[in-house]
Amino acid sequence: MNLKDNIRVIPDFPQPGIRFKDITTLLKNGPAYQAMINEFVDIYKDKEIDLIIGPEARGFVIAAPLAYALGVGFIPVRKPKKLPHETIEVTYDLEYGKDSLVMHKDAILPGQKVLIADDLLATGGTIAATLELAKQLEAEIVGAAFLIELTYLNGRKKLGDMDITTLVQY
Ligand code: PRP
Repeated sequence: MNLKDNIRVIPDFPQPGIRFKDITTLLKNGPAYQAMINEFVDIYKDKEIDLIIGPEARGFVIAAPLAYALGVGFIPVRKPKKLPHETIEVTYDLEYGKDSLVMHKDAILPGQKVLIADDLLATGGTIAATLELAKQLEAEIVGAAFLIELTYLNGRKKLGDMDITTLVQY
């Protein structure tokens, strides 16, 4: 299954000059969606992962089915004011302004082995913030898994020596 062929590129969205990678075309193709998750399963099945963490919203469509397929737990990382229990929060820089990501304080126990998963590694800001949340809870980070990597944005640089898997590169 060629995953890249199932991703639609939309020119000038959400602003002129951006070529948006639209994964809805892959998600609606059942065999392609399954093939993507199965690729990740093959890579991570023997890593003794306890939990998979995914940032909203597009990260959920990767992290949750992967957690299900591996038979491990899923932890949502959310925008502020969405999670009902005690939380920890990390603020990070966007191109213009700042944003925050939040996780439940009791989401991860110290030493649990976690994998971070998202649809896209662009500047790396989202995953660096997610990584910081997991580190605050003393997780053992197995690595980070992405469907897509925009290599020209050098997001990997923000993530230190973390083990990173990406299935499709632009
Ligand atoms: C997108 C994408 C990644 C992030 C990647 O999410 O799903 O999480 O941007 O960009 P970065 O590497 O530069 O941080 P977005 O914030 O658009 O939210 P969404 O998933 O709710 O659409």
